[in-house]
Amino acid sequence: MAYNLLKGKKGIIFGALDEKSIAWKTALRCHEEGAELVLSNAPIALRMGAINQLAEQVNAPVIAADVTVNEDIQALFEKTKEHFNGGVDFILHSIGMSLNVRKGVHYTQNNYDFTHKGFDISALSLHRILAEAMRQDAINEWGSVVALSYIAAQRVFPDYNDMSDNKAILESIARNFGYYYGSQRKVRVNTVSQSPTRTTAGSGVKGFDGFIDYAEKMSPLGNASADQCADYCVTLFSDLTRMVTMQNLFHDGGFSYTGVTQSVIEQMGK
Ligand code: NAI
Repeated sequence: MAYNLLKGKKGIIFGALDEKSIAWKTALRCHEEGAELVLSNAPIALRMGAINQLAEQVNAPVIAADVTVNEDIQALFEKTKEHFNGGVDFILHSIGMSLNVRKGVHYTQNNYDFTHKGFDISALSLHRILAEAMRQDAINEWGSVVALSYIAAQRVFPDYNDMSDNKAILESIARNFGYYYGSQRKVRVNTVSQSPTRTTAGSGVKGFDGFIDYAEKMSPLGNASADQCADYCVTLFSDLTRMVTMQNLFHDGGFSYTGVTQSVIEQMGK
């Protein structure tokens, strides 16, 4: 059901790879709520072609940008401003990748070239995007920026590997940049800490099936789906959450505040 929450708003959605992507679902929901969009992903992801299908559905141009390259981000904002004839009202950062995870390198033996690359893509990219947006004054007053995080930023989840460190820094960047962007331009910056979700990035984590089942049992409401995450992002882009900034917001069916559940106790007793 649509409520026209984003009528007249314009936004950039980073990170729609295929229809399982959280960014893909969010683009669809934002479109339903009346927003106009620009889609962006790394050139290599665009070559896979799936995003064109989404672009057609939401009637949005696709602009390639590798988020580790300053010039790409600069060009993306220039082209977006040209397309909309002005700034944007919201940005979704739905980007993450760890080479240590991909190549199965244990956390205690991380390859630091991989670590640097993963950090650049998964965490520093938020700073890069916000800094360039601020330089070009590309986000309108009362705009909203959301980046996706995971509770491994606060607690240990073996096999989430160096993505845990990346998420901790991502949340820190949201908090710190949120201060400056809020004071300067009334732009809010938050992270949404989402339940484990079956997507390309999610399924890359070793033991993901066990991980997702455990979280399901440990959450009073069960795991939050990608579609529900999209709904939540819509509210954060809407004018109904104007005073929410610099927060890490758990969207996890209650997992983060649950010590143990009856279902887990019963499982342990078996
Ligand atoms: P996904 O694999 O669909 O999305 C990750 C995106 O990052 C892809 O579109 C990929 O092309 C993009 N990307 C990678 N390198 C890039 C680069 N250099 N430049 C531009 N884009 C680049 O997976 P998902 O799960 O939708 O991930 C979105 C976000 O949600 C990530 O930040 C992820 O860590 C986060 N998240 C995912 C959870 C899960 O269990 N799937 C749980 C909590 C958070």
